[in-house]
Amino acid sequence: MSTVGKPYHWWQTGVVYQIYPRSFQDSNGDGIGDLAGIILRMDYLKDTLGVDAIWLSPFYPSPMVDFGYDIADYCDVDPMFGDLATFDRLVAEAHRRGLKVIVDYVPNHTSDQHAWFVESRASRQSPKREWYIWRDPKPDGSPPNNWGGFFGGPAWTLDPATGQYYLHQFVPEQPELNWRNPEVVRAMLDVLRFWMKRGVDGFRMDVVGLLIKDAELRDNPPNPNAPAGLPPNDIFGRQLHTYSEDQDEVHDLIRQIRCTLDEFPDRVGIGELWGDLPRWVKYYGENGDELQLPFNFRLIHLPWKAEALQASVDALEAALPPFGWPNYVLSNHDQARFASRCGGQAQARVAAMLLLSLRGTPTVYYGDELGLENGVIPPHKIQDPQGVNLGAHRTRDVARTPMQWDARPQAGFSSVEPWLPVTSDFEVRNVAAQLQDPSSVLTLYRRLIAVRRGSRALQVGSYRPLEAGAPGVFAFVREADGERVLAALNFNGEPVQVAFPGFGAGQILVSTSGREGEVAPADLTLAPHEGLLMTL
Ligand code: NOJ
Repeated sequence: MSTVGKPYHWWQTGVVYQIYPRSFQDSNGDGIGDLAGIILRMDYLKDTLGVDAIWLSPFYPSPMVDFGYDIADYCDVDPMFGDLATFDRLVAEAHRRGLKVIVDYVPNHTSDQHAWFVESRASRQSPKREWYIWRDPKPDGSPPNNWGGFFGGPAWTLDPATGQYYLHQFVPEQPELNWRNPEVVRAMLDVLRFWMKRGVDGFRMDVVGLLIKDAELRDNPPNPNAPAGLPPNDIFGRQLHTYSEDQDEVHDLIRQIRCTLDEFPDRVGIGELWGDLPRWVKYYGENGDELQLPFNFRLIHLPWKAEALQASVDALEAALPPFGWPNYVLSNHDQARFASRCGGQAQARVAAMLLLSLRGTPTVYYGDELGLENGVIPPHKIQDPQGVNLGAHRTRDVARTPMQWDARPQAGFSSVEPWLPVTSDFEVRNVAAQLQDPSSVLTLYRRLIAVRRGSRALQVGSYRPLEAGAPGVFAFVREADGERVLAALNFNGEPVQVAFPGFGAGQILVSTSGREGEVAPADLTLAPHEGLLMTL
């Protein structure tokens, strides 16, 4: 595949790194991470790890009922995290190093403390009444329809003072904006402009598939495949979300969002989107006029098996429109930690290689580069509303524990007890220790990122799956401008003999097990859970 002279965007060639600001670095000794803390760690991001862009989860003023995804003011910084001047400094420090900055945009709902909602709920005649979704109760006083909320319970709460229900598909403190109202659209597009003027390079957009609901707000049908054993309050889990998400009309809004991004050069829109492949792919737009990167979460919920993963990658490659750029995510602040989910450290190393060698933009979640495992959160310390409402096994706190920098108490994250505990192995599982260890996960990530940066084939080359001739092996070739890189990933706990005929000698670029030198792809033995990247 010739890529010569073809211009690629930073969000195509780069590696994105997600920072959960509460948990990255506390600079002021309150046990909660902050923007100044992120600035302190900028050299780590750029020079040590070598990523190209950082995505910051919300740092806006918020009562923190959903840890910042309940925003009380879209155009400011919560004092807990700093202020606008600190944010400007963060952008300047990032840009000085060539790092792009992506911020979270939460367009579907505000906090119930947002001035818009306070005004909206004040009376039925409020000029902001139609900024949110208010409906009369049914004649028997029950909610307007049967929708359930993601975090349990009904999606409607009655406001006794005005006698109407408002819609919220997350916690009741997250009322949903009415994007059918042009005033809301205008105000929310201005939020994008506000941050782009401050220099941000793009947005990760929260639940954008929810922006428009069925015009008649019809009842959702039951889900015939709902898992058994859901808690009684999990109404959402028992329904199909036919009328509450992914309505065709949403695409008009996404196009408007994209037009707004395009008012500024080279900004990126990344959407949090679920749903099946044919519907998901529509968020690229008919001519590439919607999102550049609808987040691809498909690998997250698959069994950690070579065949399942390859089938997903191949299906994605086949479904993408010619202008659609792929991307991969293995974890984020809503999922259990990857190293815990996929079976252990050996598997996490293979996962790192997969993420960083597939065709498409990889997003790395903070702490995964240390092989961080699920935090152990004592029941009385569970904070996430999902865990509080739907059971301890559903808490997302496990993936939000502090970044572990060194072996000092609190892992160098804070001088006081942090908002969530560090993991018990922090004395060895930390940046400082892993930097000294040539076989550490961090060393592997650094190497993978550096190799990707130096390889046109890995950054932008084509993807071609290979038949390995053995079960449990995912192998593929990436190729650009005469450069060829072969990836061979053994998902088995045993050694496996593979054969890729037709290739000459391969020079190992990275091995998850530290192997170096030359190999013969035509007759190759992979160690248990070994991944190899080689040039041919
Ligand atoms: C998705 C976010 O990633 C999650 O953390 C949040 O709770 C919901 N959207 C609601 O904003």
